[in-house]
Amino acid sequence: MDGTMGREIDTVAVLGAGSMGHGIAEVSAIAGYDVFLRDIEESYVEDGYEQLKWSVGKLAEKGQLDEDPEDVLERVRTTTDLAEAVGDADLVVEAIPEDLEMKRGLFADVEAATDEGTILATNTSSLRVTDIAAETDHPERLCGMHFFNPPVKMDLVEVVSGEETDEEVVDTAYAFVESLDKTPVLVRKDIPEFVVNNVLVPFMEEPGWMLDAGDADGVRQADAAMVYRRGYPMGPFELADFGGLDIFVHTRDQWDEPVPECYRSLVDADDLGRKTGEGFYDYEDGAGVNYE
Ligand code: 3HC
Repeated sequence: MDGTMGREIDTVAVLGAGSMGHGIAEVSAIAGYDVFLRDIEESYVEDGYEQLKWSVGKLAEKGQLDEDPEDVLERVRTTTDLAEAVGDADLVVEAIPEDLEMKRGLFADVEAATDEGTILATNTSSLRVTDIAAETDHPERLCGMHFFNPPVKMDLVEVVSGEETDEEVVDTAYAFVESLDKTPVLVRKDIPEFVVNNVLVPFMEEPGWMLDAGDADGVRQADAAMVYRRGYPMGPFELADFGGLDIFVHTRDQWDEPVPECYRSLVDADDLGRKTGEGFYDYEDGAGVNYE
């Protein structure tokens, strides 16, 4: 620990330009940070940047942005070059797929391309920060920074301390999240899925078991109950479609947890939710039910 961990953050590198990555880049740029958005393929970077641009434009259209969207976009640079993205970064936020080896490999490359004062964060939603950090030279530099989808609309961020994370890193990450005008929740127990997803997964899974067993009247029942009776913004199946059914199933498989058949059969049929146009619901045909 060289005493530079609490350093001021000006430049943020976000690795992974998918729905979480581009959203994290967006909220960082809106808060005034210079941002690098990096992915491994030019097309991924372009897609992420287009979504970011759309979202910033939408916020501006609705009067929810304090400045010209072009000024926000000027702070975002894109690249496929890892060294370029992280070389001058004060904070690196990783938002690549939920694959332990892939994340470990990426952080090894990031360590080689950054100085020891750069703070490293993972947006993992299901893996332990300690496990991701286990093969790094400096596990004290790495913390969890778990955003929710879509980052630009969701207020909560879990800031997770791995078993070896330095206190200064946690404090800096916490302050960074506050500077995004979001609400950080400190998680000191580095368990798989942290706090929120340990609560959220049963919310999404239980109606799946009911559907499998014929105990629910259909997909709309649980969603309607939660939205119209409980005031949730989305019901469990709608939320699963929103996040991607493949991601949900992959996460459960990773821990050898059972998955309701309704989820698995949709993934097997490549009906992955909103992103493919069909999941529990059909988004191309007036949002009717797709899973009977
Ligand atoms: N950027 C900018 N604008 C957006 C946007 C975005 N990312 N997403 C939606 N909008 C716009 C819409 O286009 C719409 O504009 P319009 O009125 O001109 O058509 C406007 O915002 C209103 O959108 P909606 O009517 O769809 O709904 P709301 O604004 O009320 O809310 C929502 C959208 C925030 C997504 C809300 O439905 C919600 O909170 N859903 C639940 C999300 C949630 O629970 N996320 C957590 C998932 S779990 C997770 O992330 C864990 C992780 O580990 C995977």
